[in-house]
Amino acid sequence: MKFYANFKMNHTRDSTSKYIELLNKELKDTNSGDIFVFPPATALQKGEDKVVIGAQNGYFGKNGAFTGEIGLEQLKEFNIDTILIGHSERREIFGESQEFVAKKFDYYKKENFNIIYCIGEPLEVREQGVEALFEYLYSQFEGIDTTYKNLTVAYEPIWAIGTGVSATTADIELVHNRLKERFNVELLYGGSVKIDTIEDIAKIDSVDGVLVGSASLKADEFAKLIKKGLGA
Ligand code: PGA
Repeated sequence: MKFYANFKMNHTRDSTSKYIELLNKELKDTNSGDIFVFPPATALQKGEDKVVIGAQNGYFGKNGAFTGEIGLEQLKEFNIDTILIGHSERREIFGESQEFVAKKFDYYKKENFNIIYCIGEPLEVREQGVEALFEYLYSQFEGIDTTYKNLTVAYEPIWAIGTGVSATTADIELVHNRLKERFNVELLYGGSVKIDTIEDIAKIDSVDGVLVGSASLKADEFAKLIKKGLGA
């Protein structure tokens, strides 16, 4: 199992450093595998011990006149080679179209980054039934090279993000099993993963890891979630 913490617009540079230190301390006796933390851009730093740092966002360019963005040059300063692309908050709140998301994907693929590519449907699509659901999800792969070797896909139903209502194991299996049949990729689940739900989610064969927002914000709690997920 792999564990990814998405801080979103939470934490500072200082609190992120303390978090990484504490997380490493809490996990020092576990064989905890891959742990990734995505802090805000201002708190990017080099990872330590068990923790790899990734970026929540990046523009498709090295540097240039793109107000408010960060690009390859800023990420390289911290040896970052892991990036989230296509998160529903970027798509929905910041209006990133599929075409725009695909450009980012292409750029960071050429730079050989590990890409965590997020997909997920809104509630109204889920309510239209299974066919509409997969049509929507497959459309989020337009322009995306799903054979890219450093690709991880995160399935995050929008109705489960930050709502406290996680998808059921049946919901997750339905989507993950089909995606696994169609694409040969590592698959994460995200959307209200919590200490109470991690054990059941981790047991699903087609779940290779989890992308966690709210329940990752405190290092000691995230460490507990990781230990539970590993069955430690
Ligand atoms: P959540 O966020 O765990 O708070 O639902 C997950 C995500 O958006 O990656």
